[in-house]
Amino acid sequence: MDTPFKTIIEPFRIKSVEPIRFTTRAERAALLTAAGYNPFLLRAEHVLIDLLTDSGTGAMSKHQWAGMMRGDESYAGADSFYRFEAAVRDITGLKHILPTHQGRAAERVLFGTVVNAGDIVPSNTHFDTTRANIEARGASALDLPVPEGRQPALRAPFKGNMDLAALERCLAENPGRVPLVMLTITNNSGGGQPVSLANLRGARDLCRRFGVPLFLDCCRFAENAWFIKQREPEWAAVTPLEIARAMFACADGATMSAKKDGMANIGGFLALNDDGWAERAKNNLILTEGFPTYGGLAGYDLEALAVGFYEALDEDYLRYRIRSIEYLGEQLTAAGVPIVQPTGGHAVYIDAKAMLPHLPPGEYPAWALSCALYLEGGVRGVEIGSVMFGRQPDGTEKPAAMELVRLAFPRRVYTQSHVDYLAEVIRHVHARRERLRGLRMVHAPAVLRHFTARFEALGGGLMT
Ligand code: F0G
Repeated sequence: MDTPFKTIIEPFRIKSVEPIRFTTRAERAALLTAAGYNPFLLRAEHVLIDLLTDSGTGAMSKHQWAGMMRGDESYAGADSFYRFEAAVRDITGLKHILPTHQGRAAERVLFGTVVNAGDIVPSNTHFDTTRANIEARGASALDLPVPEGRQPALRAPFKGNMDLAALERCLAENPGRVPLVMLTITNNSGGGQPVSLANLRGARDLCRRFGVPLFLDCCRFAENAWFIKQREPEWAAVTPLEIARAMFACADGATMSAKKDGMANIGGFLALNDDGWAERAKNNLILTEGFPTYGGLAGYDLEALAVGFYEALDEDYLRYRIRSIEYLGEQLTAAGVPIVQPTGGHAVYIDAKAMLPHLPPGEYPAWALSCALYLEGGVRGVEIGSVMFGRQPDGTEKPAAMELVRLAFPRRVYTQSHVDYLAEVIRHVHARRERLRGLRMVHAPAVLRHFTARFEALGGGLMT
């Protein structure tokens, strides 16, 4: 940027404000107990800074709201669909664009169309709904991250990459059993870490060689494009839009939760090139989502997305977005709080295993830490650890590879002083970390248990 000034500011001003409510520590202690120590079961009005997810929680621009007013709500062939389709095709280059109400609907339609019992679907790391939708088909979801992706403290530019040697082995050893390969960009469950274009192209070459299609789980494609611009020298002078096009050029299809880099509160799509798969996917879509020109969305949602995809690729926005995450990361690192390094695209991930060595995985250290952040500061994050991933498809328990608390930033919602407050809360809990006690799970559903599980604090309370 052509300016002598270094301060990166929020590239927007605020037209409509949403008050947030303060609670006392005693109120939060009672609310947490009533919620069975599960932050998902808290009421949002009792949360001061809500970093549970960056999904569907962003603020829309005036251009998106203006777009919503021209939403065409025709059941079939609405103008809004064609604007949405043109935007998605312009960015992805993919042939068939099927709107869905969110990402997991695209996953269900795709896997319901092409994945069968006994199949294997490799990925750098599957997100939890992706894994659950694959397992619901009786297939296995195989994570093949590069080894550095599992070392939180290690700094490397593309820790979201896939282990291509492991992918090659998987494809060679399982002919006919791999209907498609997925790449999650950025790698959410692995710390919001990006995937390089070199790795994407390597995966594409392998997939071509074995005749297996490559699909992107592209929820955060714009953030991934920004990291490629910053960290892969040959792309430094290329716009995020052009980088996104180069990323999608490697793929035969994509599933998208547009609640992230679609900059909207709801929406998604399945995009794919194969005519036969598209035909079957459309029939599947009609069964549960809707006619292929609205796919579970209102015309006005499609309009908000047609604008949002491009706003997500705006350089001033991406610079501010990635910088605000990095800024929190710098403050925590300076205070000695262990986090996944370097900071990822949409979230800071605290390494609870490193921070709380006195709590074994069976006492859910990352879950306990997420509760402590709420208790002390009214902050809500999410555990990505043994509660989310510890239960195996055969019903046994195995500790997750990492115990993380993810603090995911809604897009264009919080300002720098919110981030300063957050850093203060985390430092406060970190200073008292030895007093934090573990949890016992007292109720757990069989699948996706983190949403509704209930817990009791061990040893007479969360913070003794
Ligand atoms: N894939 C990835 C990488 C995701 O992060 C998500 C959602 C999905 C698929 C599913 O999309 O929610 O629209 O159905 N992630 C949210 C999160 C929920 O908090 O990370 P969805």
